[in-house]
Amino acid sequence: MKVSKIAVMGFGVVGSGTVELFYKNKDIIEKRSGRKMDIKYILDLREFPGSPFADKMTDSFDEILNDPEVTVVAELMGGKTFAYDYTKRLLQSGKSVVTSNKELVAYHGAELIKIAKENKCNYFFEASVGGGIPIIRPLHQCLAANRIERIAGILNGTTNYILTKMIYDQISFDQALADAQRLGYAERDPSADIDGADACRKLCILGSLAFGKQIYPEYVHCSGIRNIALEDVEYVANAGYAVKLIGLIDKTENGLVATVCPRLVSVNNPLSGVNDVFNAIMIRGDSVGDTLFYGRGAGKEATASAVVADIIDAVKHENADIASLTWEDSTDRSFMVPYKSANVRVYVRVSSHEADSLKGLITTLFGYVDFIPRKQRTENELAFITPSIEEYQIDRKLALLSEHAEVRRKIRLL
Ligand code: HSE
Repeated sequence: MKVSKIAVMGFGVVGSGTVELFYKNKDIIEKRSGRKMDIKYILDLREFPGSPFADKMTDSFDEILNDPEVTVVAELMGGKTFAYDYTKRLLQSGKSVVTSNKELVAYHGAELIKIAKENKCNYFFEASVGGGIPIIRPLHQCLAANRIERIAGILNGTTNYILTKMIYDQISFDQALADAQRLGYAERDPSADIDGADACRKLCILGSLAFGKQIYPEYVHCSGIRNIALEDVEYVANAGYAVKLIGLIDKTENGLVATVCPRLVSVNNPLSGVNDVFNAIMIRGDSVGDTLFYGRGAGKEATASAVVADIIDAVKHENADIASLTWEDSTDRSFMVPYKSANVRVYVRVSSHEADSLKGLITTLFGYVDFIPRKQRTENELAFITPSIEEYQIDRKLALLSEHAEVRRKIRLL
Protein backbone atom coordinates (compact mmCIF):
# COMPACT_ATOMS: atom_id res chain seq x y z
CA MET A 1 0.00 0.00 0.00
CA LYS A 2 1.29 3.46 -0.91
CA VAL A 3 2.42 5.51 2.09
CA SER A 4 1.76 9.29 1.83
CA LYS A 5 4.96 11.05 2.87
CA ILE A 6 4.76 14.38 4.70
CA ALA A 7 7.38 17.05 5.39
CA VAL A 8 7.18 19.60 8.19
CA MET A 9 9.05 22.89 7.76
CA GLY A 10 9.80 24.62 11.08
CA PHE A 11 10.19 22.77 14.39
CA GLY A 12 9.09 25.55 16.75
CA VAL A 13 5.99 25.54 18.97
CA VAL A 14 3.50 24.62 16.23
CA GLY A 15 5.92 22.41 14.24
CA SER A 16 6.87 20.24 17.22
CA GLY A 17 3.20 20.12 18.29
CA THR A 18 2.23 18.90 14.82
CA VAL A 19 4.83 16.11 14.74
CA GLU A 20 3.96 15.00 18.29
CA LEU A 21 0.22 14.97 17.60
CA PHE A 22 0.73 13.07 14.33
CA TYR A 23 2.56 10.22 16.07
CA LYS A 24 0.31 10.27 19.15
CA ASN A 25 -2.86 9.78 17.05
CA LYS A 26 -1.36 8.11 13.95
CA ASP A 27 -3.82 5.20 14.08
CA ILE A 28 -6.98 7.34 13.85
CA ILE A 29 -5.30 9.83 11.50
CA GLU A 30 -4.56 7.05 9.00
CA LYS A 31 -8.02 5.57 9.44
CA ARG A 32 -9.64 8.92 8.71
CA SER A 33 -7.43 9.67 5.72
CA GLY A 34 -7.86 6.16 4.36
CA ARG A 35 -4.08 5.98 3.75
CA LYS A 36 -0.88 4.94 5.44
CA MET A 37 1.02 8.15 6.25
CA ASP A 38 4.42 9.09 7.65
CA ILE A 39 6.52 12.19 8.29
CA LYS A 40 9.69 11.84 6.23
CA TYR A 41 11.40 15.19 6.86
CA ILE A 42 11.49 17.96 9.46
CA LEU A 43 13.21 21.08 8.13
CA ASP A 44 14.94 23.35 10.63
CA LEU A 45 18.33 25.06 10.67
CA ARG A 46 18.67 24.43 14.41
CA GLU A 47 19.88 21.14 15.84
CA PHE A 48 17.76 19.11 18.26
CA PRO A 49 20.15 16.61 19.85
CA GLY A 50 18.36 13.78 21.63
CA SER A 51 15.04 14.46 19.85
CA PRO A 52 13.09 11.27 19.09
CA PHE A 53 12.67 12.72 15.58
CA ALA A 54 16.40 13.32 14.96
CA ASP A 55 16.47 10.87 12.02
CA LYS A 56 13.97 13.06 10.14
CA MET A 57 15.81 16.36 10.58
CA THR A 58 17.19 18.13 7.53
CA ASP A 59 18.46 21.63 6.83
CA SER A 60 17.92 21.27 3.07
CA PHE A 61 14.72 22.61 1.52
CA ASP A 62 15.79 21.18 -1.85
CA GLU A 63 15.79 17.68 -0.41
CA ILE A 64 12.05 18.07 0.29
CA LEU A 65 11.28 19.85 -2.98
CA ASN A 66 13.04 17.22 -5.09
CA ASP A 67 11.68 14.15 -3.30
CA PRO A 68 8.79 12.79 -5.41
CA GLU A 69 7.57 10.70 -2.47
CA VAL A 70 6.62 13.85 -0.52
CA THR A 71 3.13 14.96 -1.50
CA VAL A 72 2.12 17.20 1.44
CA VAL A 73 4.24 19.80 3.24
CA ALA A 74 3.33 21.69 6.42
CA GLU A 75 4.85 25.19 6.33
CA LEU A 76 5.13 26.19 10.00
CA MET A 77 8.06 28.58 9.70
CA GLY A 78 6.12 31.84 9.73
CA GLY A 79 7.03 35.14 8.07
CA LYS A 80 6.71 35.95 4.39
CA THR A 81 10.21 35.78 2.96
CA PHE A 82 11.48 32.18 2.93
CA ALA A 83 7.99 30.85 3.63
CA TYR A 84 6.65 32.62 0.52
CA ASP A 85 9.42 31.40 -1.76
CA TYR A 86 9.28 27.82 -0.47
CA THR A 87 5.48 27.62 -0.59
CA LYS A 88 5.38 28.88 -4.16
CA ARG A 89 7.99 26.39 -5.35
CA LEU A 90 6.32 23.48 -3.58
CA LEU A 91 2.92 24.30 -5.07
CA GLN A 92 4.46 24.78 -8.52
CA SER A 93 5.90 21.27 -8.22
CA GLY A 94 2.42 19.89 -7.40
CA LYS A 95 2.92 19.31 -3.66
CA SER A 96 0.08 20.47 -1.39
CA VAL A 97 1.02 22.91 1.36
CA VAL A 98 -0.79 23.38 4.68
CA THR A 99 0.07 26.26 6.97
CA SER A 100 -0.60 28.20 10.15
CA ASN A 101 1.14 31.24 8.62
CA LYS A 102 -1.52 33.97 8.73
CA GLU A 103 0.88 36.67 7.57
CA LEU A 104 1.61 34.80 4.34
CA VAL A 105 -2.05 34.01 3.65
CA ALA A 106 -3.17 37.57 4.44
CA TYR A 107 -0.69 39.04 1.94
CA HIS A 108 -0.32 36.32 -0.72
CA GLY A 109 -3.38 34.09 -0.30
CA ALA A 110 -4.97 34.83 -3.69
CA GLU A 111 -1.74 34.16 -5.57
CA LEU A 112 -0.83 30.97 -3.68
CA ILE A 113 -4.34 29.50 -3.99
CA LYS A 114 -4.23 30.21 -7.75
CA ILE A 115 -0.85 28.49 -8.12
CA ALA A 116 -2.16 25.47 -6.20
CA LYS A 117 -5.20 25.19 -8.50
CA GLU A 118 -3.04 25.50 -11.62
CA ASN A 119 -0.91 22.62 -10.35
CA LYS A 120 -3.78 20.39 -9.16
CA CYS A 121 -2.81 20.51 -5.51
CA ASN A 122 -4.07 22.40 -2.46
CA TYR A 123 -3.08 25.28 -0.21
CA PHE A 124 -4.85 24.81 3.14
CA PHE A 125 -4.69 27.22 6.12
CA GLU A 126 -7.24 26.14 8.74
CA ALA A 127 -4.66 26.80 11.49
CA SER A 128 -4.07 30.38 10.36
CA VAL A 129 -7.23 31.72 12.07
CA GLY A 130 -8.49 30.89 15.55
CA GLY A 131 -5.84 28.25 16.44
CA GLY A 132 -7.75 25.00 16.87
CA ILE A 133 -11.22 26.41 16.07
CA PRO A 134 -12.75 25.00 12.89
CA ILE A 135 -13.57 28.19 10.95
CA ILE A 136 -12.04 28.17 7.46
CA ARG A 137 -13.77 24.97 6.37
CA PRO A 138 -17.14 25.88 7.96
CA LEU A 139 -17.00 29.30 6.28
CA HIS A 140 -16.48 28.09 2.71
CA GLN A 141 -18.25 24.72 2.98
CA CYS A 142 -21.00 24.60 5.64
CA LEU A 143 -21.99 28.26 5.08
CA ALA A 144 -21.46 28.16 1.31
CA ALA A 145 -25.16 28.84 0.58
CA ASN A 146 -25.14 32.16 2.45
CA ARG A 147 -24.20 35.72 1.58
CA ILE A 148 -22.10 36.75 4.55
CA GLU A 149 -23.24 39.97 6.22
CA ARG A 150 -20.96 40.29 9.23
CA ILE A 151 -17.80 38.76 10.71
CA ALA A 152 -17.05 39.72 14.32
CA GLY A 153 -14.41 37.98 16.35
CA ILE A 154 -11.92 37.80 19.15
CA LEU A 155 -9.05 36.68 16.99
CA ASN A 156 -5.97 37.01 19.16
CA GLY A 157 -5.37 34.74 22.14
CA THR A 158 -2.51 36.75 23.62
CA THR A 159 -4.42 40.03 23.94
CA ASN A 160 -7.53 38.27 25.21
CA TYR A 161 -5.37 36.50 27.81
CA ILE A 162 -3.78 39.82 28.84
CA LEU A 163 -7.13 41.64 29.11
CA THR A 164 -8.62 38.77 31.14
CA LYS A 165 -5.67 38.60 33.55
CA MET A 166 -5.62 42.36 34.04
CA ILE A 167 -9.32 42.46 34.84
CA TYR A 168 -9.79 39.33 36.95
CA ASP A 169 -6.34 38.81 38.52
CA GLN A 170 -5.38 42.50 38.69
CA ILE A 171 -1.90 41.72 37.35
CA SER A 172 0.06 44.22 35.29
CA PHE A 173 0.08 44.33 31.51
CA ASP A 174 3.78 43.36 31.42
CA GLN A 175 3.31 40.38 33.75
CA ALA A 176 0.33 39.12 31.75
CA LEU A 177 2.31 39.44 28.50
CA ALA A 178 5.27 37.54 30.00
CA ASP A 179 2.88 34.71 30.98
CA ALA A 180 1.41 34.60 27.47
CA GLN A 181 4.92 34.35 26.01
CA ARG A 182 5.89 31.58 28.44
CA LEU A 183 2.77 29.62 27.45
CA GLY A 184 3.69 29.86 23.75
CA TYR A 185 0.72 32.07 22.77
CA ALA A 186 2.53 35.24 21.72
CA GLU A 187 4.12 36.00 18.36
CA ARG A 188 7.93 36.14 18.19
CA ASP A 189 7.52 39.91 18.18
CA PRO A 190 4.59 40.39 20.60
CA SER A 191 3.86 43.88 19.25
CA ALA A 192 2.05 42.04 16.42
CA ASP A 193 -0.36 40.76 19.09
CA ILE A 194 -0.64 43.90 21.21
CA ASP A 195 -1.01 46.39 18.36
CA GLY A 196 -3.58 44.29 16.51
CA ALA A 197 -1.57 43.21 13.43
CA ASP A 198 -2.05 39.51 14.15
CA ALA A 199 -5.83 39.86 14.58
CA CYS A 200 -5.89 42.03 11.46
CA ARG A 201 -4.22 39.35 9.33
CA LYS A 202 -6.74 36.77 10.55
CA LEU A 203 -9.65 39.11 9.83
CA CYS A 204 -8.27 39.65 6.32
CA ILE A 205 -8.21 35.89 5.69
CA LEU A 206 -11.81 35.44 6.88
CA GLY A 207 -12.98 38.50 4.94
CA SER A 208 -11.20 37.48 1.74
CA LEU A 209 -12.79 34.04 1.90
CA ALA A 210 -16.26 35.35 2.81
CA PHE A 211 -16.39 38.21 0.31
CA GLY A 212 -14.29 36.77 -2.54
CA LYS A 213 -11.64 39.53 -2.84
CA GLN A 214 -8.25 39.79 -1.19
CA ILE A 215 -8.57 42.18 1.75
CA TYR A 216 -5.04 43.34 2.48
CA PRO A 217 -4.11 44.38 6.05
CA GLU A 218 -3.65 47.95 4.75
CA TYR A 219 -7.39 48.06 3.96
CA VAL A 220 -8.29 47.58 7.64
CA HIS A 221 -8.26 50.25 10.35
CA CYS A 222 -6.18 48.66 13.11
CA SER A 223 -5.38 49.65 16.69
CA GLY A 224 -4.41 47.48 19.65
CA ILE A 225 -4.83 47.37 23.41
CA ARG A 226 -1.84 49.40 24.62
CA ASN A 227 -4.00 52.34 25.70
CA ILE A 228 -6.66 50.43 27.60
CA ALA A 229 -6.51 51.50 31.26
CA LEU A 230 -8.04 49.75 34.26
CA GLU A 231 -10.15 52.89 34.86
CA ASP A 232 -11.87 52.34 31.51
CA VAL A 233 -12.44 48.67 32.24
CA GLU A 234 -14.04 49.58 35.58
CA TYR A 235 -16.26 52.31 34.13
CA VAL A 236 -17.61 50.14 31.36
CA ALA A 237 -18.16 47.15 33.67
CA ASN A 238 -20.58 49.40 35.60
CA ALA A 239 -22.52 49.94 32.40
CA GLY A 240 -22.66 46.21 31.55
CA TYR A 241 -19.79 45.93 29.06
CA ALA A 242 -16.44 44.13 28.74
CA VAL A 243 -13.54 45.50 26.69
CA LYS A 244 -12.38 43.10 23.98
CA LEU A 245 -10.08 43.40 20.96
CA ILE A 246 -12.57 42.82 18.14
CA GLY A 247 -11.97 42.19 14.45
CA LEU A 248 -15.07 43.31 12.56
CA ILE A 249 -16.20 43.37 8.94
CA ASP A 250 -19.67 44.65 8.15
CA LYS A 251 -21.20 44.48 4.69
CA THR A 252 -23.00 47.77 4.09
CA GLU A 253 -24.89 49.14 1.07
CA ASN A 254 -21.75 51.02 0.01
CA GLY A 255 -19.16 48.32 0.63
CA LEU A 256 -17.22 46.59 3.40
CA VAL A 257 -16.19 48.33 6.62
CA ALA A 258 -13.27 46.57 8.35
CA THR A 259 -11.68 47.38 11.71
CA VAL A 260 -9.57 45.77 14.41
CA CYS A 261 -9.78 47.74 17.65
CA PRO A 262 -10.80 47.46 21.29
CA ARG A 263 -14.59 47.55 21.59
CA LEU A 264 -17.12 47.53 24.39
CA VAL A 265 -19.07 44.29 24.18
CA SER A 266 -22.39 44.07 26.03
CA VAL A 267 -22.67 41.30 28.63
CA ASN A 268 -25.66 40.10 26.61
CA ASN A 269 -23.35 39.29 23.70
CA PRO A 270 -21.63 35.86 24.04
CA LEU A 271 -18.33 37.41 22.88
CA SER A 272 -18.16 39.31 26.20
CA GLY A 273 -17.71 36.03 28.10
CA VAL A 274 -14.84 34.74 25.95
CA ASN A 275 -11.82 34.82 28.26
CA ASP A 276 -8.16 33.78 28.56
CA VAL A 277 -6.57 32.40 25.40
CA PHE A 278 -9.96 31.50 23.90
CA ASN A 279 -11.07 33.02 20.61
CA ALA A 280 -14.60 33.23 19.23
CA ILE A 281 -15.85 34.18 15.79
CA MET A 282 -19.39 35.18 14.97
CA ILE A 283 -20.42 34.81 11.33
CA ARG A 284 -23.75 36.19 10.17
CA GLY A 285 -25.19 34.71 6.98
CA ASP A 286 -28.32 35.92 5.20
CA SER A 287 -29.97 32.53 5.54
CA VAL A 288 -28.52 31.01 8.70
CA GLY A 289 -28.42 34.17 10.85
CA ASP A 290 -25.75 34.30 13.57
CA THR A 291 -23.35 31.41 14.13
CA LEU A 292 -20.60 31.27 16.75
CA PHE A 293 -17.32 29.34 16.69
CA TYR A 294 -15.38 29.07 19.95
CA GLY A 295 -12.17 27.43 21.16
CA ARG A 296 -8.49 27.80 21.97
CA GLY A 297 -7.07 30.46 19.68
CA ALA A 298 -3.37 29.83 20.29
CA GLY A 299 -1.00 27.30 21.75
CA LYS A 300 0.88 24.22 20.63
CA GLU A 301 -1.71 21.44 20.82
CA ALA A 302 -4.72 23.49 19.67
CA THR A 303 -2.94 24.83 16.58
CA ALA A 304 -1.44 21.41 15.80
CA SER A 305 -5.00 20.00 15.80
CA ALA A 306 -5.90 22.25 12.85
CA VAL A 307 -2.61 21.64 11.00
CA VAL A 308 -2.95 17.86 11.19
CA ALA A 309 -6.59 18.08 10.05
CA ASP A 310 -5.37 19.96 6.97
CA ILE A 311 -2.67 17.33 6.36
CA ILE A 312 -5.36 14.62 6.44
CA ASP A 313 -7.55 16.59 4.02
CA ALA A 314 -4.60 17.25 1.69
CA VAL A 315 -3.77 13.53 1.61
CA LYS A 316 -7.43 12.71 0.88
CA HIS A 317 -7.57 15.28 -1.93
CA GLU A 318 -4.36 14.54 -3.82
CA ASN A 319 -4.86 15.68 -7.44
CA ALA A 320 -8.19 17.44 -6.69
CA ASP A 321 -8.45 21.04 -5.60
CA ILE A 322 -11.30 22.31 -3.39
CA ALA A 323 -13.22 24.79 -5.55
CA SER A 324 -14.84 26.82 -2.75
CA LEU A 325 -11.53 27.63 -1.02
CA THR A 326 -10.65 30.63 -3.13
CA TRP A 327 -10.71 34.40 -3.62
CA GLU A 328 -9.52 36.87 -6.25
CA ASP A 329 -6.70 39.33 -5.89
CA SER A 330 -7.78 42.97 -5.54
CA THR A 331 -5.90 45.76 -7.25
CA ASP A 332 -7.74 48.58 -5.49
CA ARG A 333 -9.79 49.02 -2.35
CA SER A 334 -12.90 50.50 -3.94
CA PHE A 335 -15.03 47.71 -2.41
CA MET A 336 -14.07 48.98 1.05
CA VAL A 337 -15.72 51.93 2.83
CA PRO A 338 -13.85 54.33 5.18
CA TYR A 339 -14.63 53.16 8.70
CA LYS A 340 -15.35 56.68 9.90
CA SER A 341 -18.33 56.95 7.60
CA ALA A 342 -20.06 54.13 9.49
CA ASN A 343 -22.44 54.81 12.38
CA VAL A 344 -21.10 53.82 15.75
CA ARG A 345 -21.65 54.36 19.48
CA VAL A 346 -18.56 55.27 21.49
CA TYR A 347 -17.54 55.35 25.13
CA VAL A 348 -15.75 58.59 26.06
CA ARG A 349 -13.82 59.48 29.22
CA VAL A 350 -12.99 63.14 29.77
CA SER A 351 -11.26 65.00 32.56
CA SER A 352 -11.83 68.59 33.55
CA HIS A 353 -11.66 70.61 36.77
CA GLU A 354 -15.40 71.11 36.49
CA ALA A 355 -16.41 67.80 34.99
CA ASP A 356 -19.99 67.72 36.27
CA SER A 357 -20.76 71.12 34.78
CA LEU A 358 -19.90 69.68 31.35
CA LYS A 359 -22.96 67.45 31.29
CA GLY A 360 -25.08 70.15 29.66
CA LEU A 361 -22.56 70.74 26.89
CA ILE A 362 -22.17 67.00 26.27
CA THR A 363 -25.95 66.57 26.00
CA THR A 364 -26.19 69.55 23.66
CA LEU A 365 -23.48 68.08 21.42
CA PHE A 366 -24.60 64.45 21.31
CA GLY A 367 -28.29 64.48 22.25
CA TYR A 368 -29.19 61.73 24.71
CA VAL A 369 -26.08 60.12 26.29
CA ASP A 370 -25.63 57.49 29.04
CA PHE A 371 -23.42 58.90 31.80
CA ILE A 372 -21.57 56.05 33.53
CA PRO A 373 -20.87 56.02 37.25
CA ARG A 374 -17.75 54.45 38.75
CA LYS A 375 -17.29 53.73 42.45
CA GLN A 376 -13.87 55.30 42.73
CA ARG A 377 -14.60 58.08 40.22
CA THR A 378 -12.35 61.04 40.72
CA GLU A 379 -14.18 64.38 40.95
CA ASN A 380 -12.70 65.80 37.80
CA GLU A 381 -13.64 62.92 35.49
CA LEU A 382 -16.71 61.99 33.49
CA ALA A 383 -17.50 58.98 31.31
CA PHE A 384 -20.41 58.53 28.92
CA ILE A 385 -21.66 56.52 25.94
CA THR A 386 -22.90 58.37 22.86
CA PRO A 387 -25.86 57.45 20.68
CA SER A 388 -25.15 55.86 17.28
CA ILE A 389 -23.78 58.55 14.93
CA GLU A 390 -21.40 58.62 11.94
CA GLU A 391 -17.88 58.50 13.42
CA TYR A 392 -16.75 61.60 11.50
CA GLN A 393 -19.52 63.50 13.35
CA ILE A 394 -18.45 62.06 16.70
CA ASP A 395 -14.87 63.23 16.13
CA ARG A 396 -16.10 66.75 15.24
CA LYS A 397 -18.14 66.90 18.43
CA LEU A 398 -15.23 65.60 20.52
CA ALA A 399 -13.00 68.28 19.00
CA LEU A 400 -15.51 70.89 20.25
CA LEU A 401 -15.65 69.20 23.65
CA SER A 402 -11.86 69.18 23.89
CA GLU A 403 -11.96 73.00 24.03
CA HIS A 404 -13.45 72.56 27.54
CA ALA A 405 -12.04 69.24 28.76
CA GLU A 406 -9.30 66.75 28.02
CA VAL A 407 -10.69 63.80 26.06
CA ARG A 408 -8.74 60.90 27.57
CA ARG A 409 -10.31 57.86 25.92
CA LYS A 410 -12.64 56.92 23.10
CA ILE A 411 -13.60 53.27 22.65
CA ARG A 412 -16.12 52.03 20.09
CA LEU A 413 -19.00 49.73 20.95
CA LEU A 414 -19.69 46.51 19.07
N1 HSE B 1 -0.05 35.05 18.73
C1 HSE B 1 -1.24 34.45 18.25
C2 HSE B 1 -2.35 34.68 19.28
C3 HSE B 1 -1.01 33.00 18.02
O1 HSE B 1 -2.04 35.06 20.41
O2 HSE B 1 -3.51 34.53 18.96
C4 HSE B 1 -2.09 32.29 17.28
O3 HSE B 1 -2.23 32.80 15.97
